[in-house]
Amino acid sequence: MKVLGINAIYHDPAAALVVDGRVVAAAEEERFSRRKHGKRPLPWSAWELPELSAAWCLAEAGISPDELDAVAYSFDPALMSTPEQSGLFDDGDVMRKMYAEKAPSFLAHALPGLAEEKVRYVQHHVAHAASAGLAAPESSNSVLVLDGRGEAHSHLAGRYVDGQLEVLAGQALPHSLGLLYEDLTDHLGFLRSSDEFKVMAMASFGKPRFVGELAQAVRATGDGGFRTEKVDFAEFAPRLRAGDEWTQDHADLAASVQQRLEDVLLDLVRWLHARTGDQVLTLAGGTALNCVANTRIAAEGPFDEVWVQPAAGDAGTALGGALHVARALGDVTQPMPGADLGRGWSDEEIEAVLVTASVDYERPRDVADTVAETLASNGIVAWFQGRSEFGPRALGHRSLLAHPGYEANLERMNDVKGREQFRPVAPMVLLERAPQIFSRGPIPSPYMLFVHDVAPEWRDRIPTVTHVDGTARIQTVDRADEPLVARMLECFERRTGLPIVVNTSLNTAGRPMVDDPRDALECFGSAPVDLLAIGPFVVRRPKATPRPA
Ligand SMILES: [Fe+2]
Repeated sequence: MKVLGINAIYHDPAAALVVDGRVVAAAEEERFSRRKHGKRPLPWSAWELPELSAAWCLAEAGISPDELDAVAYSFDPALMSTPEQSGLFDDGDVMRKMYAEKAPSFLAHALPGLAEEKVRYVQHHVAHAASAGLAAPESSNSVLVLDGRGEAHSHLAGRYVDGQLEVLAGQALPHSLGLLYEDLTDHLGFLRSSDEFKVMAMASFGKPRFVGELAQAVRATGDGGFRTEKVDFAEFAPRLRAGDEWTQDHADLAASVQQRLEDVLLDLVRWLHARTGDQVLTLAGGTALNCVANTRIAAEGPFDEVWVQPAAGDAGTALGGALHVARALGDVTQPMPGADLGRGWSDEEIEAVLVTASVDYERPRDVADTVAETLASNGIVAWFQGRSEFGPRALGHRSLLAHPGYEANLERMNDVKGREQFRPVAPMVLLERAPQIFSRGPIPSPYMLFVHDVAPEWRDRIPTVTHVDGTARIQTVDRADEPLVARMLECFERRTGLPIVVNTSLNTAGRPMVDDPRDALECFGSAPVDLLAIGPFVVRRPKATPRPA
């Protein structure tokens, strides 16, 4: 069966293609349209479809729209509650419902040859659940969807047994841990549905001194659900506008909400485990990108193993929706092979772009060693290799790399990316070396979705990636999965004694991650990056940037 998955209703529009139960392609629309998050999550943008990523998925597999067996649309308008029933009083829902009902005809228009009746609605949280439970390596698992909102709910607890989902609980709106966190994001002057990770970063600078006051408003109810009553955050710290300086009160508020979130999640996880007794927990939904909470779930929760969908936000529902429908049509689905499900380029295609741009480039004997040499001398490297990542994290395919041994490199990297100085950057580390340096969070951690404690004797050796609280959000690199990245790390260790490199996403402020070779050249041309390693080629910046000692 050939099933295309579409996410369009709220944010992070994306497409994914599942052929005979295998995920063959998945990509977010922002990588094509070059508009961060694809669109703003507003009611009147609900009609906008991931047209470019959908067309690419089909082209990648050599399939025309009329050959599709089904299209999974990850939202079911028939299940929506009214603005009054949901308690959100969101008038925009009328428009969302109308656009979702029209989605089959919009899709048939966007993908000529597709018959409207091939489009199937998949409940939003079932699509999220499938992106975890069906995409994870273990086919039987408990699943928790932690979201802002779906049609009428904000969460789902259930389990997959041999690929079949049993739903055990779902919290009805307006109670929503995701919306609570979004409200706080907005209160702190950041962009709702986009900048929640900045709140998590800010929380690490604060003390959770307001948790007592929040305990009644934000709590688990003991039946698999929870309550999130409206909180007037201004009682704890005044509202900020974009760009305002935050104070200790703001950090303390962020830390307090973060802790309540973690405590409630742990209650939900324990309830689910008591029902299923499973070994493996899988997570999806935007809140599952909260790697601090994920780490507490893994470290303190009852499950032996926690697997988080790398595209845990709404983009992942394209993939989950497609897997769910493929199952419903009788296919045996396979776990996702990795996060590198986006566009890739042959050496010849890359070289043609370099020739067109008329830049000087070389083809070194070993690009991994050339990159390690530049990093060892404290240069910054733009690393463009293989297929792009599905989800918000750079995982060694569209990455910006640096030496982790210089404290000044944190500010330098944040300057390159034009972003706030309190934002941490993360390390990638060879898998077999990780346990000597990092603890508490699970290892392996290939998708950068947990935080780890940095061993005290290592903190001064890797100050760029050691956060203020002594933690780091690591990506472990297994040479079986990522041989080129692993070799680069080995070459870097030979030169410096450090099996770790700073890894952040290859983009500049406000722009989506680089996706195609031209994006890479544009990014390289506009940012103080010393070397672009693109496929087997390297492009050097003619005049090296000043390097802090
Ligand atoms: Fe969602």
